Amino acid sequence: FIPPSAGGASGGAIAKDALGNDILASNFLATHNPGDHVLAQGLKGDPTYIVVTEEKAIGNYGLNAVCTHLGCVVPWNAAENKFKCPCHGSQYDATGKVIRGPAPLSLALVHAAVDNDRVAFTNWTETDFRTDEAPWWA
Ligand code: FES
Repeated sequence: FIPPSAGGASGGAIAKDALGNDILASNFLATHNPGDHVLAQGLKGDPTYIVVTEEKAIGNYGLNAVCTHLGCVVPWNAAENKFKCPCHGSQYDATGKVIRGPAPLSLALVHAAVDNDRVAFTNWTETDFRTDEAPWWA
């Protein structure tokens, strides 16, 4: 038995904050800056980054925060404009592309879209735009 994901009719999920409340895009954008990467609860409850674009909009992709090495949650380092895993030192650029091992793969992508002031995540099954390869997670 696989329980349905919360919210969203098409197997997607509405981004939630640490308290489990829906993130409202309007509030979110009022309190974040271009270039921010902010953790939310995403598909299957996975920690997932919402990206704020240079135009101060919600980015059209989210990044699964689970390190592709051994699964630590990777924090965003705003000062260095990259993700740095505290467990074994892997690094990912601002798009989640791996730039230093031991992580073998880039962070998994999801689609992100604003719908009715909520941030909706859905599965990303298309080509990974960072590598031009088929998505390893799909
Ligand atoms: Fe991230 Fe090992 S779990 S580098």
